[in-house]
Amino acid sequence: MKEPKLDFIVTPILEWYDIHKRTLPWRESPPNPYRVWVSEIMLQQTRVEAVKGYFERFMIELPTIESLATIDDERLLKLWEGLGYYNRVRNLKKGAQVIVNEYEGEFPKDYEGILRLPGVGEYTAGAISSIVFGKPIPAVDGNVMRVIARFTENHSDIMLPATKRQITQQLQVVYPLADLRCGDFTQSLMELGALVCVPNGAPKCLTCPLSTKCCSYHNGTQNELPVKMKKKSRKKENRTVFILCYEGKVAMQKRSDTGLLSGLWEFPNIEGWLTQKEAETQLLAYGITAVNLKKGIDSKHIFTHIEWNMTSYLIECSDDSQKVFSWVTQSQLESEIALPTAFKKFKTMIKFY
Ligand code: ADE
Repeated sequence: MKEPKLDFIVTPILEWYDIHKRTLPWRESPPNPYRVWVSEIMLQQTRVEAVKGYFERFMIELPTIESLATIDDERLLKLWEGLGYYNRVRNLKKGAQVIVNEYEGEFPKDYEGILRLPGVGEYTAGAISSIVFGKPIPAVDGNVMRVIARFTENHSDIMLPATKRQITQQLQVVYPLADLRCGDFTQSLMELGALVCVPNGAPKCLTCPLSTKCCSYHNGTQNELPVKMKKKSRKKENRTVFILCYEGKVAMQKRSDTGLLSGLWEFPNIEGWLTQKEAETQLLAYGITAVNLKKGIDSKHIFTHIEWNMTSYLIECSDDSQKVFSWVTQSQLESEIALPTAFKKFKTMIKFY
């Protein structure tokens, strides 16, 4: 097949989008900049299905930019609990403060202004500019790169910034004119990538509106593309988690303000897999007197750069006089404490006597 003509895709993909697009809570007419911004940040590294519930709850509690700018940090983290990549939500709050302080509370309309908001990169600025403000600016994420790399049969590594730049430039020139469905074009590319030109497994070329002109489909290379560099393998770490219970309360501690899961809560835990004897020694070091100590469940959690293999102990304590930890009730744990997913399974061990 000769040089692919990318301008071919605009009409068929928009027609396909009109029929097949999912109804999503942030896809409104007219689009609301605050809601689209929050949705795009939530959708970074997170699937649409996982985001929907979080988005609805977030918008009920924080319906305006002003409400986000002033929310208490603990409450904000609780709203994001389980979504991961918690810097995203800290940046959202900082961004809301910038909008209140520098833009009189009105969302910036120009690409440069949007790009300056904390946590907003070229992808998000392009998505908001096109979806909300009708600008012909591409938003190139993994879904979009896959669609275009296959359509143009591009064998370059999509993890390389140069490949992303190339695909952005190719798309830039075929964008519809300003206000003429630029936002739908952006979303149609993402949607085709999510529903048809799928990752992990064979793309659904038989139902693809672009297949007649798709170079990969023509040459049978769609399962080999896109080329994606293997990520470095993750570091593995063993940890021991302590579920310390006393009279309806469990001991928790806040993680440090920097690094992995900064500012979130956790059950006390330390590096290494401790034997029962070692666990008892560690309790003494914590200043805890155990009435009873039992081996608990094992659990594994995979982060982007590290993997935790965790074991645990359930400890019935003689008192809650150890004040380095916070002793919290079940209802506080449910409604106030932002507990990362890594520790969620251990909640089942707690004895709220
Ligand atoms: N992924 C990222 N942004 C999206 C959007 N606006 N719609 C669907 N999936 C997305």
